Amino acid sequence: MVVERFHETADFLRSKGVAKPATGIILGTGLGKLVDQMDVHLTLDYKDIPHFPVSTVEFHHGKLIYGELEGKKVLGMRGRFHYYEGYTLQEVTFPVRVMKLLGIQRLLISNAGGAMNPAFVNGSLMMLDDHINLFPGSPLIGKNHDALGPRFPDMSEPYSRELRDRLARIASSHAINLNRGVYAGVPGPNLETPAEYRYLRRIGADVVGMSTIPEVIVANHMGLPCVAISVITDECDPDNLKPIVLEEVLKMAAIGEDDLIVLFRELVREL
Ligand code: HPA
Repeated sequence: MVVERFHETADFLRSKGVAKPATGIILGTGLGKLVDQMDVHLTLDYKDIPHFPVSTVEFHHGKLIYGELEGKKVLGMRGRFHYYEGYTLQEVTFPVRVMKLLGIQRLLISNAGGAMNPAFVNGSLMMLDDHINLFPGSPLIGKNHDALGPRFPDMSEPYSRELRDRLARIASSHAINLNRGVYAGVPGPNLETPAEYRYLRRIGADVVGMSTIPEVIVANHMGLPCVAISVITDECDPDNLKPIVLEEVLKMAAIGEDDLIVLFRELVREL
């Protein structure tokens, strides 16, 4: 990790007109439609941003989008970098470092996930109250840069209580069913075996997915409040497990996406 790179990328984005975004938003798999509600000032392909990770393995179609949502300046990532694509955890979290240097005061994250909790149905939402990191490491391994955050960052409140309270209130005032629970983050890209889903449930996870935790660790390292929502795309009952098809995952993401958009939009509006 080279701190100068974060600054160089932030300077580049400022030179393109990115000025003091208040909120950063990461939109997960099949969850990019929130961008349609933005007044977009600037769109950049990740591949055109200096120091953004480039994969030799898989072409990435992600875009960084700067503009206004409900009159508030936001910096959005449409698509993220995943560990399973071959990026290191430092590369996966590079954009979060840059967004913080650009001045965001909070980070909103979405992802697609499978539910071990039998009460969570496909297409519904779960707000993360907590998580279990099952990635093989932490993005903070290596030399610590004290200017960015402490060597041993506290993780006693990984997801901001204030932002969660606000989302819960917004959900109830819009009659949106917002489940709450614990997210387990796994490297992927393979899905889980029945025994693995059983194990994840036993260790206290309600939902499992292949993202989010590295970004949340880095956000906490920098003292950046965050909040995250999973859209449930498959029901993971180990005793009745059906093969998971990507098309089905995307279809369920699209079903949950409308509620997700309302929650994030209203949260941005009141902040
Ligand atoms: N497991 C891991 N990641 C996922 C799943 C799952 O069942 N569904 C969507 N992302």
